[in-house]
Amino acid sequence: MAKRTVRDTEVEGKTVLVRVDFNVPMDIKTGVITDDSRIRAALPTITYLLDHKAKVILCSHLGRPDGRVVEGLRMTPVAQRLSQLVDLPVSTVSDCIGTAVEKAADNLKGGEILLLENIRFYPQEEANDPSFAQALAKPADIYVDDAFGTAHRAHASTVGVAKYLPAIAGFLMEKELEALSSILSTPEHPFGALLGGAKVSDKIGLIQNILDKVDILLIGGGMAATFLKVQGYEVGLSLVEADKQELAHQLIEAAKQNGASLFLPVDVVVSDSISEQATGEVVPIARIPPNKYIADIGHQTVELFSQQIRQCRTVFWNGPMGVYEIPRFAQGTKALVELLANLKATTIIGGGSTAEIVEEMKLTHKMTHVSTGGGASLKFLQGKSLPGVAVLLDREH
Ligand code: 3PG
Repeated sequence: MAKRTVRDTEVEGKTVLVRVDFNVPMDIKTGVITDDSRIRAALPTITYLLDHKAKVILCSHLGRPDGRVVEGLRMTPVAQRLSQLVDLPVSTVSDCIGTAVEKAADNLKGGEILLLENIRFYPQEEANDPSFAQALAKPADIYVDDAFGTAHRAHASTVGVAKYLPAIAGFLMEKELEALSSILSTPEHPFGALLGGAKVSDKIGLIQNILDKVDILLIGGGMAATFLKVQGYEVGLSLVEADKQELAHQLIEAAKQNGASLFLPVDVVVSDSISEQATGEVVPIARIPPNKYIADIGHQTVELFSQQIRQCRTVFWNGPMGVYEIPRFAQGTKALVELLANLKATTIIGGGSTAEIVEEMKLTHKMTHVSTGGGASLKFLQGKSLPGVAVLLDREH
């Protein structure tokens, strides 16, 4: 069921509380935002509300302050960046509930913005405390949820507040739900999923949910070690999740039964250690030395995966193919991201560190959709309901 959005609602002159996910990567010492994608992604909703003369109150968390005030996690740098992007003043207040906020909200005129302080400075936020949610809702007439990246959290600002205000979706929320739903319900075939990252356990639910939808499943990254081990290869010092081997075996069998072609690396870059100083060498998977770690996929694997990806009309990618943080071991991931960026197909990219890679490579604009939600997109693609979405009004209301 489609959710009601700001487009379906009269907002002029209304005070609108917008939950955004401005949890942006930041250099804590300097306060410099290193990737402002999440702020830019919320601009369509913010500018729409401003253009329609709503009084806009934004609230977000930043980092994990665990319910106390952490000076380095104040919203001030975010307010400055937002102000540059909208080319308007952004007022701030050093709290997110209470009289100071109510006063600042009263002073707002249509077309003006107020950014509240980090909502996670209160433990009541993550506890989804009803009185806290009510206090947050107090200055507003409408609640807009545009924080897709936090929609998997049942917190006061994502769920609790919807009990006190009409709750509707922002444009980013709408776009994320449409893009991610499309690969579960109507992907154009052949549909391929390229999955990597450190652990199988993080991706099991996702693999299980998409196995009957994909034609091609490509598995790289640290998680490939467990699959290779199940297939009888020695993987040296690489992490093998012993308790997930049986499941990995079942996934391989289920892929066969569903007619999905599953590909694992055929060669890998191995190294003595995972460090900046480490050097790597490429070996076939049958010759991984016992004293080395798998650090990246090899050239032949890049070629094999590329051949498969080139056939696809839809590709979903989540998780690096190697230890991306170390440039020497980022080559496999980079080669495939370049390919995806130039593919004539629908390319949907999972959020979190996967999205950060695409942004760092300056290729976001060449993908069909790059999700702003890491945990949220994974949970959604596992077929699970997101609490922050479930509380939003359906369009028919
Ligand atoms: C994220 O970065 O995935 C979201 O902002 C949610 O943050 P959290 O994992 O700290 O809840």
